[in-house]
Amino acid sequence: MLPVQPIGVFDSGVGGLTIAEEISRQLPFEKIIYFGDTAHVPYGPRSVEELTSFADKIVDFLIRHEVKAIVDACNTTSAVALPFLQEKYDIPIIGVIEPGVMDAMRVTKNRHIGIIATEATIASHAHQKAIESRGSNYRVFNQACPKFVPLVEDGKVYGPEVRSAVEEYLLPLLKANIDTLILGCTHYPFLRRVIKEVAGPEVTLVDPAVATVRELKKVLIKEKGLRGPHTHTLRSLEFYVSGDPDSFSEVGYKLVGWPELDNTRKVEVFNGGNKGGQDFD
Ligand code: DGL
Repeated sequence: MLPVQPIGVFDSGVGGLTIAEEISRQLPFEKIIYFGDTAHVPYGPRSVEELTSFADKIVDFLIRHEVKAIVDACNTTSAVALPFLQEKYDIPIIGVIEPGVMDAMRVTKNRHIGIIATEATIASHAHQKAIESRGSNYRVFNQACPKFVPLVEDGKVYGPEVRSAVEEYLLPLLKANIDTLILGCTHYPFLRRVIKEVAGPEVTLVDPAVATVRELKKVLIKEKGLRGPHTHTLRSLEFYVSGDPDSFSEVGYKLVGWPELDNTRKVEVFNGGNKGGQDFD
C-alpha cells in the first residue's frame, strides 16, 4: 500500500458525498474514488443479504481500483455488513455508525438521543447497540424516515414536501425530549436546514461525517503511515455509478457543486463483470 493511492468511498447514491466533502475538508490532499449504487437506491427497504452482497461487490470494485482504504459512507451497509467486510478484506474499512454514536454520547446533556435513519438501519438497532455497549442511562429514540432518501436523490432539500416529511418524523422524537439527534443516514445532512428549523435550537444535530473522517485520519496517518503526499493537486475526484450517470452528476452538482461530477461514469460491478478491469471506463 502506498500513500499516493486513493481512498474509496461508497453509498447507495448521492448521500456519501457528505462524507466525501468532509474528507476533502480534513484531508485535502487525498484522491477519492466514489461509487454510488444508484441502480439499487434506496437501500433502506432491502434485506441484510442483499445489502451485504452489494457492499461486497462494491468493495471488490474499489480494491481493484487500488484504493488504500475504504469508507463505507452508508449507515445502512455499515449497520448490517461492516463486520463481514472487515473480516473478508485485508484493507482498512471504516464505517459511519460508531463515530456518530461517540460524538452524540459526548454532546448529549440529558442523555435522550434521537436516531433518524433508513428502515434497515433502524431495524438493525446498530446505533442503539453501540450506545448501550458504551454506557448506561442513555435513552434512545429511533425513527425510520423512508421519505428522505428519495427526496434527496431527486435533489429536493427544502420546500413544503421536505418540511412536511421532516415534521412527520421529528415530532415524536421532540415529544420524547431528545437534546441530540444523529443524522443516521448520509443523505440526511443535505436536509439539515429544514431538520434544524423543525428541531429547534435546543437539539444538537450530529452529522457522523466529521467523526468518521477523524477516524479515517487516525487510521491512515497514525496507524498505517499512508497520508497522501502534499504534492497532489487539491481535490482529485473520480465518480462511478451503477445507474444513470447524468442524473447522479446533475443532482450531485446541485448538492456539492463539484465540476468533477460531470465525468461520472457508469460501471457494471454486480453481474460478474469487470474481471480484468476492462469495463471500468
Ligand atoms: N445513504 C445511505 C445511508 O446512510 C443509504 C440510504 C438509502 O439508500 O436508503 O443509510
